Amino acid sequence: MPRAVITGWGKCVPPLRLTNADLEQLCDTSDEWIVERTGISERRISHVEATDLAELAGRRALACAGVDAADLDLIVVASCTPEILCPTMAAMLEERLGAANAAAFDLNAACSGFAYSTSVVTGMIESGFARKVLVVGAEKLRFIMDYRDRSTCILFGDGAGAAVFEASGSDECGDGAGVLSVDLGADGDQGKTMVWTHMGSKGDPSRTIDPDDARLHFEGQAVFKIAVQGIAGSASRALERAGLTADDVDLVVPHQANARIIESATRRLRIDPDRVFTNIAHHGNTAAASIPMALHDALDEGRISPGDLVVLTAFGGGVTWGSVVLRWGDRVEPLGAYEGELPPTDATVFDLLQPNLDFFAPEG
Ligand code: ACO
Repeated sequence: MPRAVITGWGKCVPPLRLTNADLEQLCDTSDEWIVERTGISERRISHVEATDLAELAGRRALACAGVDAADLDLIVVASCTPEILCPTMAAMLEERLGAANAAAFDLNAACSGFAYSTSVVTGMIESGFARKVLVVGAEKLRFIMDYRDRSTCILFGDGAGAAVFEASGSDECGDGAGVLSVDLGADGDQGKTMVWTHMGSKGDPSRTIDPDDARLHFEGQAVFKIAVQGIAGSASRALERAGLTADDVDLVVPHQANARIIESATRRLRIDPDRVFTNIAHHGNTAAASIPMALHDALDEGRISPGDLVVLTAFGGGVTWGSVVLRWGDRVEPLGAYEGELPPTDATVFDLLQPNLDFFAPEG
């Protein structure tokens, strides 16, 4: 049976930075509080759509893998802030990338989207349905942020990350490399702890858009506890399924929700901090994009070596959780690079946030 091996990785972050000092001007918060409670110093805010971020991350991952888009069998985009619902972002990428032979669909499991997508494509590769797959996590979370609400707006940022998965069996993949086990789960009973009601078919077409439906709500402390338990439990089950223990793990690449959630969950797993990758300080929580962005940065910083055992683990709205145990292949360097960039912008970060401020919290 072929295994699903990651052979390409890419990331796209928009250029505008929203720092903690900027947020101090918008709501009653402080750099000190945000850093101490979350580990976040800044996050990126997008001047383009989520599909544009996804396209560039995808092109970079394909160049890294040396894979031609025409050879892709499948494109999956994980997102909870898709640009539109239909056509899907994956179908738009199929056209933009020229992936004429690929099936395409979007998947929404909130912050667990990349772990869920990896599990789905692993099954498709192992069954022989697909040999080359592009998975992208992409989010424009600023769309649902009320920047006067300090309980949510400090956490989230925009961005995209991508990975190319290929069926093992080629020299490129390395012996024994690929996804070894997965664990997925959900608990709809806890769904009320993270809610965003606007972008669905709830109600009648004539309904007006109530800002209260369009902003993200969550119960921070409840989510914190569920996340720590969810990540630790899910990663343990995935390791056990692979016949491995925490001692075998070289690197955990967790969903970047909050540095304290990552610390508590990995302490429960008995994995010391030097085997845990974080980039939350500069990106915040980018939901489905966070694991592929972190994976890219871990490789870029030389934190993954050939043959390493890597655990991806996430927790998100729904509530959902998912973990993937994989053995890295022989290659940790990109085969190529895509030189394209996002279109430049003259806007300031405050220009971009003004529509949110006008909609969610108009002055007076
Ligand atoms: N700045 C300053 N003070 C603040 C802020 C802020 N941004 N936010 C809250 N406070 C205050 C509170 O009002 C409270 O004050 P009080 O003691 O006078 O009442 C105090 O700080 C402590 O508040 P807590 O809510 O207890 O702070 P906590 O340490 O729990 O941190 C946080 C809050 C960061 C939201 C944390 O609970 C968390 O990260 N939860 C997880 C959220 C998450 O990851 N969600 C992602 C899922 S979303 C998705 O899947 C799409």
